[in-house]
Amino acid sequence: MNIISGLSSPTLGKKISTKAGNKLIGVEIKKFPDGELYVRVLDDIKDGVAVIQSVCSNDDLVFLLLLLDALEDAEKIVVVPYFGYARQDRKFKEGEGVSIRAIARLIEGYTDKIITVNLHSEMAKSYFKNIYEIDAMPLIGRMYKDKDIVMISPDFGSVERVKVAAKHANCEFDYLEKKRIDADHVEISPKEIDVEGKHVVIVDDIISTGGTIIEATNILKQLGAKRVEAVCVHAVLANYALSKLYNSGIDDVLATDTIERIISKITVADEIATALENFD
Ligand code: R5P
Repeated sequence: MNIISGLSSPTLGKKISTKAGNKLIGVEIKKFPDGELYVRVLDDIKDGVAVIQSVCSNDDLVFLLLLLDALEDAEKIVVVPYFGYARQDRKFKEGEGVSIRAIARLIEGYTDKIITVNLHSEMAKSYFKNIYEIDAMPLIGRMYKDKDIVMISPDFGSVERVKVAAKHANCEFDYLEKKRIDADHVEISPKEIDVEGKHVVIVDDIISTGGTIIEATNILKQLGAKRVEAVCVHAVLANYALSKLYNSGIDDVLATDTIERIISKITVADEIATALENFD
């Protein structure tokens, strides 16, 4: 199987090709003066190819579609480590588009073999015919194995995820109660949890504006936590989120490399290489 790493996942794509011992195929990429993208695959691929490309922006999506179109004769697996648009997984209000369904239809016009990492919800997953979802929580948990910490989910909705990470870290876990006010604001209610003098790790799937983690950090520090770190799968980090997080007094922030950021210290390359080997 050949590997193509897309614009958004160059380092992860390279790591996967090294681990799997597969050839990394070159791609010529241009942007025209009007902003349109151009893609040319620099090899004649007739057999299998895996395209590694997170969708963090509209350009990432168009780039992925252009690549898939260029690979028309190849047997394709699409690896989208971070699937943007997955949070609009239903009509919250009458008249809305279901974004992740629209994107599933576009990609499945080329192939229905798709691998992703921690898709936001089961609902989002339901729009795909043949998607394999990697869970990064065991990997995150193993990072903290046998450390004297408590893992905290910032809301009840993520508690099952955090339970998996805590099991692999061999530590206690608990959750906070969160209410989303709008896309930029959340409210977290103080809840009686025992974090006094403890090293706390907040675990979430996505850090976008950072609002959730900042609120959670404030509450945990008020409750007497000695050290508060956050770890997430997908570091979206919109609107200067990382600066806001550090300014909030958090002690550390870590993420996987589904989105390549300065804080992406945990790689999902092994998990993806294995999933590619076993994908039907
Ligand atoms: C929400 O359901 C997710 O699990 C994350 O908590 C959320 O996307 C984080 O967003 P933000 O960083 O903007 O608070």
